[in-house]
Amino acid sequence: MNIFNSFQLGKSTELKNRIVMAPLTRCRATNNIPNQLMVKYYQQRASAGLIISEGTSPSLNGLGYPRIPGAFSDEQINGWKTIADAVHLENGKIFVQLMHTGRITAKANMPSGAITLAPSSIQAAGEMFTETGMVAHEMPKAMTLQEIESTQNEYVNAATRLVNEAGIDGVELHAANGYLMNQFINPKSNIREDQYGGSIENRTRFVLETARKIANEIGSDKVGIRVSPYGAYNDMQSDYETLENTFIYLAQELAKIEIAYIHIVDQRVAFGAPDFTTDIKKTIKENFKGNIISGGDVNTTEKAEAILNSGLDLVYVGRPFISNPDFVEKIQNEKELVAPDMDTFYSPGEKGYTDY
Ligand code: PHB
Repeated sequence: MNIFNSFQLGKSTELKNRIVMAPLTRCRATNNIPNQLMVKYYQQRASAGLIISEGTSPSLNGLGYPRIPGAFSDEQINGWKTIADAVHLENGKIFVQLMHTGRITAKANMPSGAITLAPSSIQAAGEMFTETGMVAHEMPKAMTLQEIESTQNEYVNAATRLVNEAGIDGVELHAANGYLMNQFINPKSNIREDQYGGSIENRTRFVLETARKIANEIGSDKVGIRVSPYGAYNDMQSDYETLENTFIYLAQELAKIEIAYIHIVDQRVAFGAPDFTTDIKKTIKENFKGNIISGGDVNTTEKAEAILNSGLDLVYVGRPFISNPDFVEKIQNEKELVAPDMDTFYSPGEKGYTDY
């Protein structure tokens, strides 16, 4: 298997190689609207087989970080169209990651009228950065059944507009790293006693219902999902009694929906999570049977191919893409990689963004 060979993702998306640019928060979207600077950034990185965009909120209520983009207003959808066109001009493909931050937020980052929602009214430990410094996470409001339904509809609207109006190739549901969908899955942030909390079926219901609704609108092969089993980032419980069975059930149900892929983020690398207690990537692959994206610390052709040789299908690369827009060409030709400047990961402007 060759990492540089093309790959058919679902029926509608042909990738020119098996390298996936991972979603990376970059905070350049002033007023939460994708702009020309972002067009340049994504166009520069279009030699990835697939770009998965930075986390993008489907809702006013999901804008937990400063300057992250949304996908719910006309201006935001127009901005995404410009990005899709630029990536397609380079023969690249792009999915937009739908990230609702839920309780991982600070009031200062949220536009007026936004409310902090989560499955249960439990504040996340840790702090959020704002334009004026670090502050404690907001105490969220436990979602009513009506808010659950309206939030799902926001995901559906964003996905539909991104694909039908903006020409984006598909969407990835961010169910990893402690954001809203993960807050439903994880028992530490979800202590609901209704049909959305408690059992495995109930904790995965929000994610699965949303995935089904989106698949019905845009086609299942344009839907992917990102999960982070054993992750602890953003105050998630990294292990719990039903963890393995939760992800087995999720994989089996997602297989029935026939989504394009499951993307497993390995938090042991960039997020310092504890070691996995089971071979969860293999378990998810066996139960889903479809395409799996995974990675972690991939910076050479050998490491990328080792992921394929372990039985997985596509390889994500995160931070190296920040400082090496031509990452694919560089590893193919064994050129040295440039190290990223962490001080400009989230700062506004082109420095550390489009100038590598
Ligand atoms: C971050 O901005 O730090 C961030 C966002 C989304 C993730 C992980 C980290 O999934």
